[in-house]
Amino acid sequence: MTEPAGTCCGGVSRRAVLAGAGAGATAVVLAACSPGGTGDVQITPPATAASVAQLSDVPVGGAVAATLPGGAQILVTQPAAGQVHVLSAICTHMGCGVVPGRGDLECPCHGSTFDLEGKVTHGPAKKPLQELKAAVQDGQVVVGG
Ligand code: FES
Repeated sequence: MTEPAGTCCGGVSRRAVLAGAGAGATAVVLAACSPGGTGDVQITPPATAASVAQLSDVPVGGAVAATLPGGAQILVTQPAAGQVHVLSAICTHMGCGVVPGRGDLECPCHGSTFDLEGKVTHGPAKKPLQELKAAVQDGQVVVGG
């Protein structure tokens, strides 16, 4: 698919993407969301353990968007009570930002959907979202370390 000049990932303007991105995420967003881009961008967990969400803020059967300390966008999901997954929000199709949906995860660019464990439930994406190791400690969802 060829995107019009100045847009990426289904017509989202690069300026809008940058405006919504934290400074640390800019490089990741530009690399991931560029015409002809792929969803092969991998995010790196923080070197030291970091809390990314409070478990009580993550709906059972749903997800919340969060940010790693370095700025990468992630999704924290809770398919069943106490069962937590931390997933990259970078769509494996062409790198757009995946967002929480209604009981699933949705890519606004070309309509891919993923279950709360990151598996593809509707294409065009073919690969699951990258999962980061996570643990729940004292009510906090923690990654890295
Ligand atoms: S970038 Fe195409 S479906 Fe997500």
